[in-house]
Formats: sequence, C-alpha cells, structure tokens
Amino acid sequence: CGIVGYSGSKAVVPLLINGLRKLEYRGYDSAGIAISRGDKIDIFKREGKVDNLAELLGGTEGMSQYKDAHTGIAHTRWATHGPPSTVNSHPHSVPNNRIALVHNGIIENYASLKLRLQGEGREFLSETDTEVLCHLIDSHYSPETGLQEAVIKALKEVHGTFGICCQSVDEPGVLIVARRGSPIVIGLGEDETIVASDASAIINHTRQAIYLDDNDIARVEGGKVEISTLDRRQVQRERAEIDWSEGAAEKSGYEHYMLKEIFEQPEAIRNAIRGRLDHDRGTAILSGLNLTARELVDLHRLLIVGCGTSMNAGLVGEYAVEDFAGMLAEVEQAAEFRYRNPIVNSRDIVLAISQSGETADTLAAVREAKDKGALVAGLVNVVGSTIARETGRGIYLHAGPEISVASTKAFTCQVSVLLMVALKLARSRRFSREEGMKMAREIEQVPELVEQVLGQNDAIAKVAESFVNYRSMFYIGRGYMYPVALEGALKIKEISYIHAEGYNAAELKHGPIALLDEEMPVVALLNDGPGKDKTMGNVAESKARSAPVLGVITTGDEEARAACDWVIEIPASPQYTATITATVALQLFSYHVARLKGCEIDQPRNLAKSVTVE
Ligand code: G6P
Repeated sequence: CGIVGYSGSKAVVPLLINGLRKLEYRGYDSAGIAISRGDKIDIFKREGKVDNLAELLGGTEGMSQYKDAHTGIAHTRWATHGPPSTVNSHPHSVPNNRIALVHNGIIENYASLKLRLQGEGREFLSETDTEVLCHLIDSHYSPETGLQEAVIKALKEVHGTFGICCQSVDEPGVLIVARRGSPIVIGLGEDETIVASDASAIINHTRQAIYLDDNDIARVEGGKVEISTLDRRQVQRERAEIDWSEGAAEKSGYEHYMLKEIFEQPEAIRNAIRGRLDHDRGTAILSGLNLTARELVDLHRLLIVGCGTSMNAGLVGEYAVEDFAGMLAEVEQAAEFRYRNPIVNSRDIVLAISQSGETADTLAAVREAKDKGALVAGLVNVVGSTIARETGRGIYLHAGPEISVASTKAFTCQVSVLLMVALKLARSRRFSREEGMKMAREIEQVPELVEQVLGQNDAIAKVAESFVNYRSMFYIGRGYMYPVALEGALKIKEISYIHAEGYNAAELKHGPIALLDEEMPVVALLNDGPGKDKTMGNVAESKARSAPVLGVITTGDEEARAACDWVIEIPASPQYTATITATVALQLFSYHVARLKGCEIDQPRNLAKSVTVE
C-alpha cells in the first residue's frame, strides 16, 4: 500500500494523484484521496488503479475545480482486511467526514475494538481495520484538544503495525502522521511538506527528508514539522538527503519498469561492487559490516533470512559461503525463523536480505535474532529503511529504485554482494591471496557477462512465443543452479500467472516426474559446471515422458543444445557467477512470456512490492 499527504500552497489534488502514481507499484487494488476544502473534507475513492480515481475526479480538467484545496491525504491499497472495493478503500472517515485517515499495516486487535465501538453506537461501512482505527481516533477527539492528542490516545490502544496520515475538519492545514512498523518519510520543502510511505513519491518535490522512527508522531502544517514520541516527548530526527535521481524512478522509454530494470543490471551490479573489491589483497571491503578481522574469524555461522526473491538470493549466498569460506551457512525463511524458536548464539551472524528494507517477516526475524544475542546485519537496497536502521550494520545494494513488483536488479545485486561476503569470509579463513584475487576478478566480470545475456533479448523473446499457452512448468537445476531454478519459477509465476515449480533436478524423480507429459515443459539449467551431466540425465528422463525442454546452456555447447527443444545461451563462467547470468536470462524469458500473454507486468494481480504485514 502507499500513503501520500501534502500541506502547503500548491493545488493538492493533482499533486497527490501524481504521488499515488509513483506509489502504485506497491499495491494497487483501489485508491482514494481526501482534501480539506474550507470547513469540510471531501473524499473520493475508486476500486482499481489510480487512473480510475483520476477519472472520477474528472481528469486534468476536472481536477482544476479543486485548485483552492491545499491540504490532503491519499492512498493506494493492497487488500488485507476485506476484498478490494470502493468502500474498503482509503481514506476512511467517520460520519460528516470530521476525520479522514489513510493507513498502512494491520491493527491486530481491530475486532475487539470494533465490538466496543459498535457498543457505543458507532456504525461501520467497511470490513477494514482502518475504519476501526478512524472511529477510535474520533472517539478520543474533541476540537479543543485537537487531532494529535486523539491520535496519541487511539494509538495507545492499538496492537499491530501502522504508518498513518490523517486530518480533521477543525485543523484544515494540518496533517498528523505516525508510524510503528510501517515507514513514513517526511519530505521537507519550502513552506510545504509532503509525507509518504516511500521516498519515490516525494523525490519530485524535495530531496530533504526525515524518516520517522517507530512510535513517532509528527504534526505537519505547511513547512512546519514537529515530531514527538507517542509518550508526548518532543524529539529531533536527523535530516537525510535522498540521492535517487528523479529519472531513476521513470521508465525512460522502456515499455515496462521491469524491462528497464532488467537492462539496468550491468550498471546496478557495477554500483553494487564499486570500491568493494580489493584486487591487490584478493578480498572484499565491506566496511558497513563493521567487523574486525578477529571478529570475522570468530564467527561460527552465517544465518541468512529473507522472503521471496531475497530468500532465493540468500540461497546462493549459503552455497558460496560454505563452498569458498568453509563456514557454516544457512538460509531460513524469515517468517519461519521468527516462529519456530531458532537456535542462535552470539557467534552467529544473521544477515537479513531485503530490497525494500520494510518486509514485516524479515524485520520480525531481525528483532528475534537481536533478542537472541546474534550479530545482525542488513543487506538492503532502500537507504534509511527500517531494516537498515534496526540492523545498524550491513551493506547497501546501491541498485537504485526498483519499481517493478517482480524483483530483478535487486536479486542480481544481492547475489553480487553475497559473493563478496563469501570472498571476504573465505579470505579471512582458507583462501590464499591468489585464490582471493581470482575470485575478485571473476566477480568483476559479472556486469560484462550480464551485458552479453541482454544481447540475447530478441532470441529469448522468440523462444518465449512457444510458451504462452502452457499452464504449468518445472524449473530444474542442481547446486548453484538450484536457487536459479527457484527464482526462475518464481518470476514466471509472478508476472505471467503460469504455475511453475522450482525443483532440485535430483528431486524430480521423487514425485514431480509423475506430472510430466507434453503439456508440462521443463526448464533445465544445463550450463557448464559440476551438476550439468546429472541434469542432462534428468532432461533425458523428461523427454522420455514427452515433456518439452528448454535448456539454459553455455554458449556453443552443442551436446546440451541437441538434448533440448529450445535453448537460451549464456556465456561461459564459473557456476557461482552464472547464478547471475542464468537468472537474467530467465528474467527476460518470463518478461516476454508475460508480455505476449498481455499481462500487467509491472503490477501483477494480488502482489505488492513490499509486504509490510505478516
Ligand atoms: C514481496 C515482493 C517480492 C519480494 C519480497 C521480499 O513479496 O513481491 O518481489 O521478493 O516481497 O521483499 P524485500 O523487499 O524484503 O526484498
């Protein structure tokens, strides 16, 4: 979901609509806006995309009738409580629109609060927890004590997570924002302030920003921002400079953000590794980890936590760290980590991987690891995000803003950084300088190898034509190629809605092979490396069951080519870096299948870019 709010002297409606457009990638099943006009608040909401809301407001021309409105709040929603619908969309309000509220997160005790409020005679129109919070605020509200006080009292009764922005009719130029577990960034302009859940909605206006901490509340009026804690203690929060350029969050001529981000990968990876490889000493410089050589050697185990694509990247990290550094490494789903009482001790380092730095499950795992006394570090893309701040140490990806819901460049940058982590750990243990230098050189070559894969775009698009009518697929690989199979399958599910499963090639015969027939293609990772010959065997087994096979093969490998119905070529490289090139090839493949099927590539149904609920 996305929040944006404004207080200043500009016409608020087009400004908020533009802000919502920048946030749409986060969740998009409905959108709404509330604006202060004289002594009332007007609310407009619509199911579907921001465009539908803009249409409701009468398009550019229609919006001009609200040019006297200078304060407002807006929201794009991704349904959690209650299905997508106009009535469930935000802003929520109370009768007479005395108060309007937009909210990200989940109010866990909403059901009991709702019962109590209903007992007090309040009626509810929607099924949402946000409407409950709005009534709760209203129940504490009086024009004399003001909105901020009512919000503080209400939030004291709430369990769960929130990033909120609200306004009342009695204080027309004022916004109250607060957060616990769901980000709020305050963009500071001259005599104006724009607040949002995500920096991409504010960078058109200002680069100066304040990120609220958990349990902060801020009162915003024009250019004035006062921050206090929910205990009513005034606090100062550091200003940060947002260094994303505006263009970085635009499509720049590409048909979709996803394609743009796929093509940005050579540059993104260069940025991720820049200054971090010490070729002379054959190691990586990862100062953000803040570990002395001694502490590095003393580490017993690397535990990686993450969700979705970030977890798949983590698996490559696990393999590389065990392979090169000879150190125990494990990946765990962040959600499982939190709930199954994991064994962690002070010689473990827990590395939380997250593009957004806001994923609730990953954040919960970070907190669990801290409570258990582990060293915790973040591998995060979004600077200043919650996970980055709570871990206090870590490595930023520098991938630039990733807008497409399906993650691409974040994954390849995560893997690139994890390979450098493996190099650093290896060098502190069993790697000689020469071995370290060799690995550093191989990592350095990755951007160029990725460029070669991107050069195959047309050929991959052609292969994709044969796949639009399949309903289900298998992706198989071994060793380093196993995480690639998982990520390839995830990508095609996410954007083309073809059911796909990533499997270790060896596991195929332990069940899934029962499903193979001419309607069930297999994508096999057959590039050169230790597992290739065995996977070739699985390809033969698949073909014997009439399953069509697409092979990802090393350029010029005629034997592998002959075994497959279609192939995508990737340049020769060690398997640990081929995790990146093979993934890029499969990203392009998924992209073209989805494009040919006419899917909404950047905003697939039911998905959100960043899931800030558990
Ligand atoms: C969501 C996104 C995925 C992403 C996952 C983890 O499910 O749709 O693309 O991989 O969250 O996100 P994170 O920001 O923590 O990497």
